[in-house]
Amino acid sequence: MQINPERFLADLHTLRSFGAAGVGKGVVRPAYSDADVAARQWLAQRMRDAGLHVQVDAMGNLFGLAGGPSLLMGSHSDSQPEGGWLDGALGVIAALEVARAAAEAGGPAVSVVSFQDEEGRFGVTTGSAVWGGHLTLSEADRLTDHGGVALSEARQAIVEMVTGDVSADQFTGFIELHIEQGPTLDTSGEQIGVVTDIVGIRDMKVTFDGQQNHAGTTPMHLRRDAFQAVSAFNAALNERLRNIVTPQSVWTIGHVSLHPNASSIVPGRAVFSMQWRDADTDRLARMEQVIRNTASEIADDHGMKLSFGTMLGLEPVAMDSRLRSALEAGADTVAPDNWRTMPSGALHDATNVSRLMPVAMLFVPSIGGVSHTFEEDTAEGDLVAGVRVLAEAMDRLGSMP
Ligand code: GLV
Ligand code: MN
Ligand code: MN
Repeated sequence: MQINPERFLADLHTLRSFGAAGVGKGVVRPAYSDADVAARQWLAQRMRDAGLHVQVDAMGNLFGLAGGPSLLMGSHSDSQPEGGWLDGALGVIAALEVARAAAEAGGPAVSVVSFQDEEGRFGVTTGSAVWGGHLTLSEADRLTDHGGVALSEARQAIVEMVTGDVSADQFTGFIELHIEQGPTLDTSGEQIGVVTDIVGIRDMKVTFDGQQNHAGTTPMHLRRDAFQAVSAFNAALNERLRNIVTPQSVWTIGHVSLHPNASSIVPGRAVFSMQWRDADTDRLARMEQVIRNTASEIADDHGMKLSFGTMLGLEPVAMDSRLRSALEAGADTVAPDNWRTMPSGALHDATNVSRLMPVAMLFVPSIGGVSHTFEEDTAEGDLVAGVRVLAEAMDRLGSMP
């Protein structure tokens, strides 16, 4: 099959226009925002233009179905609160281009998906988690964002697009192209990464409740300052995790909300996100124990009441060897001696889809190794190379039942 690089790049740039923001090629398109809904409506039309049958489930996962058995390709089109133009979008538009090229070549059949809320406004890869059966819709509906909005309320924004459930039975496998979002390929100068496995993740909210008080009159030794507790927790945690982690283990406090967040008030409450990732389930559990114990000791030391939110998580997942071999053969053709196999440190919808069918993933480099920032970018030649590898892989998988 012959992909059309100009058509692919034009669609990718058009998708960026929904929520385009910031410097460079930044995007603000969180799940269920006006920009996200408008982007999904545009994508649905592009799917129809490509001869695909559009279906949208209650979460807002958007499918363009080839009809009959097909291979599913795609990713997500929602963004982080500050994101780049490629995270998710690349995989969706690449899938659309491969579906078009495959249809023009007379097969094989390729369907397209843009999952909803991969970026976790409400959880962790929420849309594919529901589609994959990891979460029920009613469990997902009870999740809230950092502003306290419930998913049940937010998803009313896409209610008019919903057609009903989409069965996974029609798909023979799932392939997701994504930017690497890390430094490996950019540093090595290689053009393609074929993913071996995706790390596991744990994510929960932690709350320290102390005593709100006057910042001028309250002596330091009488304070129950929730920010001081967060600060002491972070320092102690870094120290205590040191003995059980590897250089690939990561942990992040990415969202902190202080109450009432005023210069002259000793903060009485801090709610923060605690997230950690590793390729090994046992290590994830050991990290959890250290996190809980450290928070508990700090709470005692600082006179805090401690509470933990629901822990969300996804297990590490290995890629399917058959789909992966097809991607490796495609990489060998498109970028001979210029590709590698590698693990994914970022989470992807493929993790949830692996509950339903064989999955595989492909990476292209991220300039400077940065993502989840307006500065995220990839050379257009590398983007096109990624789509070519998908097309090569599909040609090889064409005979797949
Ligand atoms: C997905 O964006 C992730 O956080 O890995
Ligand atoms: Mn992504
Ligand atoms: Mn992301």
